[in-house]
Amino acid sequence: MARLRIEVFRAWPYLYAGTLEYEADYLKSYLNSPESLTVLVRDGEQVVGASTALPLDHESEPFTRPFVQAGYRPEDFLYFGESVLLPAYRGRGLGGRFFHEREEHARRLGRFQQTCFAAVERPPTHPLRPTDYLPLNAFWERRGYRRQPELAMEYAWQDVDQLQETEKRLVFWLKPL
Ligand SMILES: CC(C)(COP(=O)(O)OP(=O)(O)OC[C@H]1O[C@@H](n2cnc3c(N)ncnc32)[C@H](O)[C@@H]1OP(=O)(O)O)[C@@H](O)C(=O)NCCC(=O)NCCS
Repeated sequence: MARLRIEVFRAWPYLYAGTLEYEADYLKSYLNSPESLTVLVRDGEQVVGASTALPLDHESEPFTRPFVQAGYRPEDFLYFGESVLLPAYRGRGLGGRFFHEREEHARRLGRFQQTCFAAVERPPTHPLRPTDYLPLNAFWERRGYRRQPELAMEYAWQDVDQLQETEKRLVFWLKPL
């Protein structure tokens, strides 16, 4: 998971200069939760894609804070951590399958009202934005997710063109189960 995240998230809009040390800390919540889910895509022995989910009330405080401040109960949400697929395996419907498997997990656990995830938002004028980048917003909307501008958080990581960690703005998207 850490290896895939570091490889895939180097690209826009994440620009994540990942380290195994940062990953170990980030992935701790998933390892510690008996209700987390990791969906793996394998080609033979090689793991080529992965997607995760975690009860929001098992996430760290920066993730739950915007929900509490907006009057929601974190325990009502299954949070989707990420979907990462090596480029050669994209465009075959696996991104859609990741959503399906995680929403099924939410229904199986039976204690959630909604599923949610957070998307990073960068300035459209950012110098590293590829001119041909196709945002995933329309795909997420087709799957029933709605952007909630009042549910936003700041989260820090080191960008590939920076020497230190900087704060990024992430906005949550929700879908009722
Ligand atoms: C997000 C990701 C996992 C989706 O994987 P995928 O297998 O390509 O997804 P799908 O094949 O289900 O396609 C998803 C959407 O992308 C679009 N799409 C798929 N193939 C495409 C192609 N060749 N060209 C342009 N758009 C394409 C479609 O609009 C599709 O939506 P639809 O199913 O409603 O038509 C993959 O693109 C990825 O790893 N991206 C980098 C990491 C990332 O951004 N993760 C998401 C946030 S954590």
